[in-house]
Amino acid sequence: MIVLGIETTCDETAAAIVRDGRRVLADTVASQHDLHAAFGGVVPELASRAHSERILPVLKQTLAHAGTALQSVHAIAVANTPGLIGPLLVGVAAAKALAWTLQRPLIPVHHVHAHLYAPLLDTEIQHRDIYPAIGLAVSGGHTALYRLDGPLDLTRLGATIDDAIGEAFDKVAAILELGHPGGPAVEQLARSGDPNAHDFPVARLSTTSLDFSFSGLKTAVLYAARGTPSNRGTQTAFPKHPSSLSQQKRADLCAAFQHAAVRAVTLKLNRALDLQTPQRPRAILAGGGVVANQALRDAIDRQAQERGIPLLLPQKRYCIDNAAMIAALGSVGLHAGLDREQHIAATPTSRA
Ligand code: KG4
Ligand code: ZN
Repeated sequence: MIVLGIETTCDETAAAIVRDGRRVLADTVASQHDLHAAFGGVVPELASRAHSERILPVLKQTLAHAGTALQSVHAIAVANTPGLIGPLLVGVAAAKALAWTLQRPLIPVHHVHAHLYAPLLDTEIQHRDIYPAIGLAVSGGHTALYRLDGPLDLTRLGATIDDAIGEAFDKVAAILELGHPGGPAVEQLARSGDPNAHDFPVARLSTTSLDFSFSGLKTAVLYAARGTPSNRGTQTAFPKHPSSLSQQKRADLCAAFQHAAVRAVTLKLNRALDLQTPQRPRAILAGGGVVANQALRDAIDRQAQERGIPLLLPQKRYCIDNAAMIAALGSVGLHAGLDREQHIAATPTSRA
């Protein structure tokens, strides 16, 4: 069975062909990083336009790479929530047009849930061996913990109450003028820094909370980099300009920030693993752009080993937004009878 996946929730126009739910035959990601770099973040209107321009070339290239004729596609899966409304509409419209013309099933896929299915891509892992599982989704738009009783049966245990972890990486990169997106740049510079150079805050919230908070950490990095501002609001004036920071100072800030961010994740993951449930989780599943970070991968790997629970991480290329994870979870949805004819909506927010 061949499923075509489409992903346009944010700033990546992506399509993929996945066979039998797992084998990735082609996976194309057209990133818009250059387009948004000058603005230090994703500009929704620019993203929508770029998706409209790129969606057909990306689909054509994906089919060509896979050596698959459009007629051989059995179903279309599309990420329809959560995301930016303009970008979502482009992907959903393309998916509907294809499903209608080819007369194929159309399957809506939850973007964040798909990140937690990415570890299964190109593997033969059986669902019965990993569920129930604890899921950790860490990306530019989301930071959440889940209990998964199946790939489509998720209960959110906690989520960020302010910034997402990836957003914090991006903001730290912006403070230090390292470019956008910042995650990879911060990770790179952190390698030559001292994680103990600053004692940045790790938000615990209440003693049992499984929620996250990264805004205090981000502000602590800002003040450490630029000094405490003399005024507030539009009058804010910092004593130091980022250009005055030495390369070593920047590296230390990156390393200490990354250390605190990773610590916040392992702390909450530990709490989730401590939850008393009738059935002990069989695995930890992690996904999202920040799982590309080697320090985070190593930390949760150590944690999983200490607790004697298998950890499933996606290959690095399947951490960032891609359509292979959409096609794969779409295949599960198809088997579960979740295909819709044309009745799917692009929905920007989701509490699921
Ligand atoms: O999953 P993703 O592609 O998009 C969303 O669903 O949000 O995640 C993108 C986020 C960005 O914030 C980016 O800076 C972060 O993932 N990221 C990283 C790394 N690579 C990407 N953060 C830390 N270290 C990395 N190596
Ligand atoms: Zn994502």
